Amino acid sequence: MADHPILFLPGPTEVADELRAVMATRLVGHRSASFVAVAKDVCARLGGLFKTAEPAVFENCTATALMEASIRNLVPRHGRTLHLVCGAFSERWQLISAACGRVTEAMAVPLGCAHDPAALRERLRAGPPVDAVCVTHNETATGVIEPLAELAAVVRSVAPDTLVLADVVTSLGGAELRFDDWGLDVAFAGTQKCLALPPGLCVYAVSARGRERAANVDERGFLLDFVRAIPLTAAGQSIATPCVPLVLALQRQLQRIATEGLDARLRRHRAMRDRTHAWAADKGYAPFVGDVAARSPTVSCIDARGADVAALAERASGAGFKIDQGYGPLKGKAFRIGHMGDHDVAGLERLLAAL
Ligand SMILES: Cc1ncc(COP(=O)(O)O)c(C=O)c1O
Repeated sequence: MADHPILFLPGPTEVADELRAVMATRLVGHRSASFVAVAKDVCARLGGLFKTAEPAVFENCTATALMEASIRNLVPRHGRTLHLVCGAFSERWQLISAACGRVTEAMAVPLGCAHDPAALRERLRAGPPVDAVCVTHNETATGVIEPLAELAAVVRSVAPDTLVLADVVTSLGGAELRFDDWGLDVAFAGTQKCLALPPGLCVYAVSARGRERAANVDERGFLLDFVRAIPLTAAGQSIATPCVPLVLALQRQLQRIATEGLDARLRRHRAMRDRTHAWAADKGYAPFVGDVAARSPTVSCIDARGADVAALAERASGAGFKIDQGYGPLKGKAFRIGHMGDHDVAGLERLLAAL
């Protein structure tokens, strides 16, 4: 479409024509046998995406609702949470926990850095004990990917009763994630990021340990009460009316991901990250994330080194592309290119040529 700027944002991102066509089909009832079969198939396929044998399900809501629900389900009233803060979204999670009446603590690192598992080990050993450690796998605001496997391993070995809650909003389907192997207890993502669908659904997985914990926590709410919602949704019997067009499109997208192959999909994301950083270096910009291992495969944050970010975004816009001009305190200083979902290197090259 001539008047549609191609979205290289860190979400929402481009939605393929094939998926838009699925969403435009006529509605079916959500209790019909055909839709129940779709819902069950979606849940089964989500397990493969999270790499879990635990139930994985969906709900009509944004990821922020799951940030809240994971606290309300898995941390007792007045319980303690430790938040690994490295940017705006990890910080938001701490605010949500506090708003839910939990006692929160932040372990913060400077913007552009990831957490050191050794520092987490030290903190957990030194106490006080916490009910949950909350990790934002991919901090979208700064383009940092946390060493989630290592951080979770530290929690498992030092504090076996502490749960690991992971925001995988901009990593699920774009970066390596192994829910079971890494010993995660909750992970959740919205559809508008690496799943390349419109916003509106959140997908999540909860471990057996997490579900047991939830069963003993009061005031879990209703719609996102894990004890009630997970078995019903996995059986295709959602509590409330699901967004039928989005669920149908999610099924098609999960089939498309299976056709591409998850490993190939993750390689494609890494290739886009590497190409973006090579371009940035060539143009005299600097990576905002110094540590190569901490550079996200789904969103690159580039230090403009004083260049006019608004003018750059304007140039992109004139050529039919949309990029982000920096989040929060980084606005105008470090711009972000979201290379997630169904974008590929060839499309990215067109954006970079325009920039
Ligand atoms: C890492 C991360 N967590 C949470 C959110 C919140 O997602 P939503 O706006 O779908 O609630 C975002 C949104 O960009 C995000 O990037």
